[in-house]
Amino acid sequence: MAKRQLLISSVVGLLILIFPLLIVAFTSNDNEIKDIARSSNLHKFQEELWIKFKHFERKMESEVTKLKTKVELLEAKVLEQAELLKECNTCSPSSNMFDNDMPVDHVKNVRPLAKTTLQPKTCLEALTSDPSLESGMYWIDPDGQGRGDNPIYVYCNMTSGSSSILHDSENSTDVDHCFDPGCYSRQIKYNATLRQITMLAELSNECHQSIQIDCFDAALEFNGIAYAWWNDRNGDERYFWSGTNNNLSAHYHSCQCGLEGSCVDKSLLCNCDSDLAMELSDNGVITDKDLLPITKLNFGRTIAPTSMSSYKIGRLECSGKVVLNGMPTSCQDLWRVGYILSGIYSIKGSSSRVETVYCDFNKLPGDEGLQTWIGYDDVKSEPVYFNVGRNTSYSTSGKAMPFEQENLNVGNAFDLSSGTFVAPCNGTYLFAFTSYAENSYNSFYFSLNLNDVQITNCYTPVTTLYYCNMLYTVNLNSGDQVQMILQRGSTNNAIFTGALLAENVF
Ligand SMILES: *[C@@H]1O[C@H](CO)[C@@H](O)[C@H](O)[C@H]1NC(C)=O
Ligand SMILES: *[C@@H]1O[C@H](CO)[C@@H](O)[C@H](O)[C@H]1NC(C)=O
Ligand SMILES: *[C@@H]1O[C@H](CO)[C@@H](O)[C@H](O)[C@H]1NC(C)=O
Ligand SMILES: *[C@@H]1O[C@H](CO)[C@@H](O)[C@H](O)[C@H]1NC(C)=O
Ligand SMILES: *[C@@H]1O[C@H](CO)[C@@H](O)[C@H](O)[C@H]1NC(C)=O
Ligand SMILES: *[C@@H]1O[C@H](CO)[C@@H](O)[C@H](O)[C@H]1NC(C)=O
Repeated sequence: MAKRQLLISSVVGLLILIFPLLIVAFTSNDNEIKDIARSSNLHKFQEELWIKFKHFERKMESEVTKLKTKVELLEAKVLEQAELLKECNTCSPSSNMFDNDMPVDHVKNVRPLAKTTLQPKTCLEALTSDPSLESGMYWIDPDGQGRGDNPIYVYCNMTSGSSSILHDSENSTDVDHCFDPGCYSRQIKYNATLRQITMLAELSNECHQSIQIDCFDAALEFNGIAYAWWNDRNGDERYFWSGTNNNLSAHYHSCQCGLEGSCVDKSLLCNCDSDLAMELSDNGVITDKDLLPITKLNFGRTIAPTSMSSYKIGRLECSGKVVLNGMPTSCQDLWRVGYILSGIYSIKGSSSRVETVYCDFNKLPGDEGLQTWIGYDDVKSEPVYFNVGRNTSYSTSGKAMPFEQENLNVGNAFDLSSGTFVAPCNGTYLFAFTSYAENSYNSFYFSLNLNDVQITNCYTPVTTLYYCNMLYTVNLNSGDQVQMILQRGSTNNAIFTGALLAENVF
């Protein structure tokens, strides 16, 4: 029993002795294992995390790219809208798009903007865009808004739609006493630049300016000497006091009474030219809009103390809208009817052709470079080309040769069976003909007839040359007939071709 006890106790004792060692061994071992496990887990986890992160990153990148494209699209749209808005703000007031049944609110908001940003070119333009306007002083800009000279302040008669330019000689002004022709001289100051005035005249149907001269022993012209004149827009001297410069003479002199034959002295052309000792006056309206306005007045022969002369000039009044008679023939015509965008345009040329020009609307009528000629337009009201042939014997002389083969007959101007070409329009045509004799011993003679009259020919001059060639260019009027007539000999082979080179459109 004691032995057993001893054994047990010794085993227990040994165990007790070993246990901590075992624990140490086991626990340390376990820790290491756990460590290893942990670190490998971590690696895996890290790797997973890394992969997930990479995945996320890629996803984010693609999202960002998508967003970027979206932003770009939106930006483009915003720009587009801004452009549209700008266009709307500067669009013509004559376009009545906002006047009629358009109850939408945002459209209403646009209207006042469009109105305030637009300066009319003439009073008539202002009246046209708003018929409720009343007569009074208005700002207009004949040479176009935002270009050229500043707007001008004019009187608008909204009954007639006329524009009147104010100046400093509307009240009666006395002429000083002096003797020589033009010894008294006065510049008329307008409340507008000459350029604006010229553009107003360009846009208007008519312009006029009245002048009243009261006189006493102060002739405008006496014994063939002109003492008084006015200077026109270009500074040139003018001696007529009413109407237009319809007399080619540079010194054309007349007043209204002279035009009517009602002057106090019937042998003279102005009341004031008479040397009667009485108060006289000449009233006239100058209507030459290409010469107006009166820029300067000149008087003389008022030296006598009893001489008296005074004048009063009306405002330069322009009304109506210049009408384009038919097609535009210049950039100036295009400008008059309202074109303002520079570009390439087709006009009715001075030739009978359509021409292409470049219009630089930064320039104005009268400026150099408004119009640059580019060239003729190849306009054809209908294309005309034909190419016909024959390959069988023909020997009937004195008649138009018919053709058998139609290779081309655009415009159907050629009739094969009668061998007749009929010009469909005025223009320049080219014809070509070639033919072979039946055999080398035969000769032949063809004439090209225009309305039954020979205009050229095609023949074999010597028997060694048994074919002929013909080329001919000719101006034809519509309806003209062209034929190849065999005058003598025979052929078994021919080609006839023709084309409209250039049409006289006008
Ligand atoms: C305005 O024009 C009308 C029609 O031509 C005319 O009767 C009227 O006298 C003009 N008014 C002024 C102030 O010139
Ligand atoms: C013209 O005369 C009127 C009065 O007769 C005067 O009120 C006006 O200021 C004068 N105009 C000029 C430009 O002198
Ligand atoms: C003359 O024109 C100017 C602007 O160019 C304007 O301010 C002024 O009021 C005008 N004078 C008259 C009398 O209309
Ligand atoms: C043109 O004017 C000149 C000079 O004033 C005059 O001698 C001539 O008779 C006029 N001719 C016509 C057709 O009016
Ligand atoms: C003439 O031309 C036609 C068609 O182009 C052809 O069929 C015919 O055989 C030709 N005749 C001769 C004699 O060459
Ligand atoms: C063709 O020219 C003739 C004479 O040159 C002319 O009388 C005719 O009006 C012109 N026809 C056309 C359509 O231009």
